Amino acid sequence: MNRPTRLRNHPVIRDLIKETHLSMNDIVYPIFVVEGHHIKNEISSMKNQYHYSIDQLEEAVKEWKNKGIRSLLVFGTPNHKDDQASSAYEKDGIVQQAIKAIKAIDKDMYVITDVCLCQYKSDGHCCFYHQEHINRKKTLKTLGQVALSHVEAGADMVAPSDMMDGRIEYIRSFLDQKGFEHIPIMAYSAKYASNFYGPFREAAHSTPSFGDRKMYQMDIGNSKEAMKEMVLDEQEGADILMVKPAQMYLDIINQAKQRFDLPIAAYQVSGEYIMLYNAVKEGYLDEKAIYESLLAIKRSGADIIITYFAKEIQELMKKI
Ligand code: PBG
Ligand code: ZN
Repeated sequence: MNRPTRLRNHPVIRDLIKETHLSMNDIVYPIFVVEGHHIKNEISSMKNQYHYSIDQLEEAVKEWKNKGIRSLLVFGTPNHKDDQASSAYEKDGIVQQAIKAIKAIDKDMYVITDVCLCQYKSDGHCCFYHQEHINRKKTLKTLGQVALSHVEAGADMVAPSDMMDGRIEYIRSFLDQKGFEHIPIMAYSAKYASNFYGPFREAAHSTPSFGDRKMYQMDIGNSKEAMKEMVLDEQEGADILMVKPAQMYLDIINQAKQRFDLPIAAYQVSGEYIMLYNAVKEGYLDEKAIYESLLAIKRSGADIIITYFAKEIQELMKKI
């Protein structure tokens, strides 16, 4: 008789047959850097996440490394915003400075950068508009400048999060032309117009001043559209395809894993983070629920998990 419980009656056999394993090798930690000095301020909408000024990175990078983190996704919150998003591609912009600082502190830390305009643009949008339409050409040109400025500062990988049509092709050929053929692109391919970005927008000061992002981010009801976006990004030369958010979109991650031969990344976003963080902090859930959430993302097909829980995982895994 088949008795599935036979393989559950001892911890060793349970481990022997475990199909999915989480490791710090899978994890990317998103961080927020700000201008100024002596700043390490907790972000009110994202508990236990901080705004760091460059001079605080030395200590922080060492702490992250001790916690097993090997890769960072850098977001900048500049002091200066304008209608051209010019602080996004300045040579000594906040992200460009952060990349150099991190690499000087620890050259082995793998630095990925978010490439977008929203934090740097007065209106908080990821693109330029021409009247009420997206000005795609101008947006792509600027995104290319941003990506180039990041790799010139020493970024190991760029991750465009704007969702403009054709941006992967544009950035790929622009970087190639400038001698950065070796830099991979992680495309935020299937990025939904999600309600779970709220805490991040407070952290990044990037709430749009008019309208919303539904003109460029995907409708939350669609999955075919996600596959179409991914097909296009693959054709355009993306090296890694991302699904965002992660927890609410495990079906999309799973479809992507089946369909594509590229590595799949999943971004457990700010809203997904804070729900779990608060539930654990208030004692409604055991902290092992955090591990379970990450394991579920991995099981669904993600090779790479971008998560604000990165600092907790190494310790947590010892308790599992
Ligand atoms: C925008 C961007 C967003 C996030 C990262 N880059 C979302 C948005 O405001 O549309 C979300 C990250 C998170 O919620 O953790 N380019
Ligand atoms: Zn954006």
